[in-house]
Amino acid sequence: MARRVISVLVFAIVIGVHCQNATEAPKADDTWKETGICRKCICKDDKVNCLDQGIVEYFKKEEWANLKPMKPATIDLSDNLIRNVTVMAELPVKVLNLSRCSIEFIENASFKDLQQMQVLDLSHNRLTTEKLSPHAFEGRYAPEEYEPLASMRTLNLAYNELHSLNQDLFEHMPELTELDLSGNPLTTIDHVTVIAISSLPMLKILRMRSCGFSDIPDKFLHTPRFLERLDISDNKLNAVPQELKETKNLIYLNLNQNPIKLLDELSEDFPGFPQLRKLRELHMCNMKQLTRIGPGALAGLQNIQSLHISFNPKLHTIDPRALARPDDIGENYDWPLVKELYLQSNNLTEIDSRLLSRWDLLDAIDVSNNPYLCDCSTQWMVDMLVPVVEHKAVNASQKMVCEEPIEMKGYTMKHLHDIHRTMRCVDKYGNRPEKDGAILLGTLIGVLLAVPIMFSLMLLWRNGYFAWMGLRGPVDVSRAFYKRAPNDDNYI
Ligand SMILES: *[C@@H]1O[C@H](CO)[C@@H](O)[C@H](O)[C@H]1NC(C)=O
Ligand SMILES: *[C@@H]1O[C@H](CO)[C@@H](O)[C@H](O)[C@H]1NC(C)=O
Ligand SMILES: *[C@@H]1O[C@H](CO)[C@@H](O)[C@H](O)[C@H]1NC(C)=O
Ligand SMILES: *[C@@H]1O[C@H](CO)[C@@H](O)[C@H](O)[C@H]1NC(C)=O
Ligand SMILES: *[C@@H]1O[C@H](CO)[C@@H](O)[C@H](O)[C@H]1NC(C)=O
Ligand SMILES: *[C@@H]1O[C@H](CO)[C@@H](O)[C@H](O)[C@H]1NC(C)=O
Repeated sequence: MARRVISVLVFAIVIGVHCQNATEAPKADDTWKETGICRKCICKDDKVNCLDQGIVEYFKKEEWANLKPMKPATIDLSDNLIRNVTVMAELPVKVLNLSRCSIEFIENASFKDLQQMQVLDLSHNRLTTEKLSPHAFEGRYAPEEYEPLASMRTLNLAYNELHSLNQDLFEHMPELTELDLSGNPLTTIDHVTVIAISSLPMLKILRMRSCGFSDIPDKFLHTPRFLERLDISDNKLNAVPQELKETKNLIYLNLNQNPIKLLDELSEDFPGFPQLRKLRELHMCNMKQLTRIGPGALAGLQNIQSLHISFNPKLHTIDPRALARPDDIGENYDWPLVKELYLQSNNLTEIDSRLLSRWDLLDAIDVSNNPYLCDCSTQWMVDMLVPVVEHKAVNASQKMVCEEPIEMKGYTMKHLHDIHRTMRCVDKYGNRPEKDGAILLGTLIGVLLAVPIMFSLMLLWRNGYFAWMGLRGPVDVSRAFYKRAPNDDNYI
């Protein structure tokens, strides 16, 4: 009996100690904290963070399997030195980040048991066209065929070494909505790449920044008919790609940093935009070559709301009718209702009042840092645009500065507005009347000053003040030559 009581007591004490410091005793299903992965990485909540841990070898399937009780949703292995990705265990992972790992090779069906994976980031690795096989993305093998990685939505392959895509690369990810191929040397988009992209009917976001291509081939954008966002900035396009007409649902387009020289509706080599009825946001910035946007060049963008045309150092002309499209009858023009207009740091001498129909409906505007010509043609900017700009942000018009004509240089339009300045017109020969006026005034002043000075000099001379220089005064002269000179000394 006593022994029993003692043993119960001992048991109670042991339990008690355990209860006092629960953290000391690992719970039965906490063993994952002790496994290889969580010793090398930070395992917290449903996140496994292995960022920059100097990991050289990919974890083995058994090590991954030990994480199961933790139910990890996010695994970040970015910034390590893993060369080969190998098969992982079944885990409820949604986001797997393998960015910046020098990955060269992905074993067949590495992710087949990550059936809930939605985001796979493989950017900034060393994947090549030759080594990256479609089999890498195989799902589970069911009788007859491989099941897809059905949850996959976002695949990032940016900044690898892909010069072309295997035409079947995405066959196991049929529901992909977002794909980033930026920074791969896809210099010519070949037909297998076209087929690969064409296998993604649900694609909504495609990024192909800095891929070095100069042309978008026909049918490239035909299949992804729900495409909403396209980034093809920093490529070698020298004209607006007409293949864009396929993207009927495009909302956002980034064409920055392409060597497009001009946009002209009438030009075959440099056409304007095709009809993109749903496009709301356009970026055409940092275009070193862009000089002119002609009439109707942006007319196809009938619902454009946000227009970013900035930092184009040679852009000197945006036609007043760049955005205007003839209405159905063809008698009048319709304009899109632009809400955000960014035209800063171009080479524009003026903003034409006809560029938009409703300046009052703008939510944001920046037209600073252009070499404005301040004459009667830009009077409306001083009178009407300055208040619009100021209304959005106080002092925002400080950087709308006159460059020409010379006598206006350096004045801010805000100042001209505040002093109610009325600017003169440049006449039809390109002369500036106000400049002529200045010259006239100068001449007049000169003449007015010259007369008394001459008069004084004459008087002094007559009175012999310059004799020491060898100039005889008229007194001597008259004595020498005109002995009978009358008393008219003071008469000129
Ligand atoms: C409980 O565990 C923590 C951390 O392991 C330790 O710092 C602390 O001293 C322990 N407390 C007792 C009462 O053992
Ligand atoms: C990576 O995988 C390739 C092909 O299976 C193999 O030849 C290579 O030795 C592996 N490299 C490492 C570092 O495991
Ligand atoms: C992956 O990690 C990199 C670098 O740590 C980070 O920039 C990137 O945003 C991450 N990707 C995702 C999808 O979280
Ligand atoms: C990957 O799978 C393909 C097709 O099943 C096969 O031909 C290839 O040999 C496999 N590669 C490796 C490294 O197992
Ligand atoms: C800007 O336009 C003016 C003519 O309006 C031209 O003389 C000048 O060279 C242009 N600047 C650049 C950088 O192209
Ligand atoms: C606007 O500019 C004026 C004059 O330069 C200055 O006094 C004022 O503080 C500025 N206001 C704001 C909000 O920056």
